[in-house]
Amino acid sequence: MKIAMIGTGYVGLVSGVCFSDFGHDVVCVDKNPEKIAMLERGEVPIFEPGLDALIEKNVAAGRLSFTTDLPAAVDGAEAVFIAVGTPTRRGDGHADLSYVMAAAEEIAHAITGYTVVVTKSTVPVGTNRQVEEVIAKANPQAEFDVASNPEFLREGAAIEDFMKPDRIIVGVQNDRAAQVMADIYRPLYLREFPIITTDLESAEMIKYAANAFLATKITFINEIAALCERVGADIKQVSKGMGRDGRIGNKFLHAGPGYGGSCFPKDTKALARIGQDHGLPMQITETVIKVNDETRRRMIEKITDMMDGHLAGKTVAVLGVTFKPNTDDMREAPSLTVIPALIGAGARVRVVDPQGRREGEALLPGVHWMDDAYKAAQNADALVILTEWNEFRALDLKRLAKRMAFPAMADLRNIYSAQDARRAGFARYVSVGRSDYRAGD
Ligand SMILES: NC(=O)c1ccc[n+]([C@@H]2O[C@H](COP(=O)([O-])OP(=O)(O)OC[C@H]3O[C@@H](n4cnc5c(N)ncnc54)[C@H](O)[C@@H]3O)[C@@H](O)[C@H]2O)c1
Repeated sequence: MKIAMIGTGYVGLVSGVCFSDFGHDVVCVDKNPEKIAMLERGEVPIFEPGLDALIEKNVAAGRLSFTTDLPAAVDGAEAVFIAVGTPTRRGDGHADLSYVMAAAEEIAHAITGYTVVVTKSTVPVGTNRQVEEVIAKANPQAEFDVASNPEFLREGAAIEDFMKPDRIIVGVQNDRAAQVMADIYRPLYLREFPIITTDLESAEMIKYAANAFLATKITFINEIAALCERVGADIKQVSKGMGRDGRIGNKFLHAGPGYGGSCFPKDTKALARIGQDHGLPMQITETVIKVNDETRRRMIEKITDMMDGHLAGKTVAVLGVTFKPNTDDMREAPSLTVIPALIGAGARVRVVDPQGRREGEALLPGVHWMDDAYKAAQNADALVILTEWNEFRALDLKRLAKRMAFPAMADLRNIYSAQDARRAGFARYVSVGRSDYRAGD
């Protein structure tokens, strides 16, 4: 099948590349010429494990190409996917649909023959019908259907998620479009990954409901973690005990510095907005947004308290700035709240992150980038773990403590324990949802 993928970001690029790996003929389009030029040179504009090899393989096989020329890519395509960004609209929390609608209009003028226009971007209920109207108005002759196909991949494990999904959601209005979608996903369907076919509105709603639910689960455990600290319980034991209940499950029960990233913050805000627009406030989601903001603020207090309130002139080494490991994505990362607060309080901040520098340099002015945790710890007054990259999971804590001016660690991902820290010679250790350790207490 011939497929055009409009938007070559974290979702569009992975989806386009994986579709080409299924054997489809895919053209990935982006309006950012630098991105396309990089891809044409064989470079990958984002960090996503395994993506470079898959691109190389499918380009070599002649099934995958990149262009800024949307009309040429759409011409003759049986399916055109819209995978452009839907960021939070300034001021009101609503999803900004301007990129989706602009893409729809461009697509409308380029359609030839029957085409299914598929929205992969996360969009509020009703957007696919709007896309349909935009196309029909811009090109009354266009023979097309719209379909909703929200994406559930996780950055850092995107290829695996795309190739082995829990489910594929397809919202359609008729059998003809459903058949095209079934043909596209046939390789997964044959391997018994379920395709759930729904109406347009349900497909759109599933994506927001799923993300808001996951954000709620994380926020719930973060709130329980805060209570654990007050009552002397250990959140790791609590999570383990809860997660063994099959009705709850053990995923997304890790306490930490609050959710961030390219999806949960904007999708919870958009869902809250959708509820308000329909006179039905999403009270749980609204509370989740509030509690998550508080969780982030609590992390700053934790670090400040660990340093007895004295950050001015102190050196803090921060390990990890991306919103999670195995990605270079910095969108809404906790580091963007925590690090400016440390700098604002007068601290000198050193940063180590395996992939975060390219994006992070512009977002975190005033930090000193280093490439090694031990070098960053040299003469530092505190160490803060913000992202649980594998390379930070098995640090030689003794070696770290020895070289610090004052060995204090804020482990905001609960990688280590107070016992580990004490044994290694740390004078202070704070984490999330567990008792702090202070030498001499
Ligand atoms: N990032 C994720 O993990 C994830 C997961 C599931 C769903 N989503 C959803 O997928 C959508 C895309 O997210 P993303 O993270 O890939 O965004 P992104 O910002 O990384 O990529 C969007 C790309 O679209 C391009 N673009 C915008 N308008 C265009 C146009 N008219 N023609 C061609 N290209 C255009 C931009 O230049 C950009 O490269 C969003 O709605 C997001 O909510 C993201």
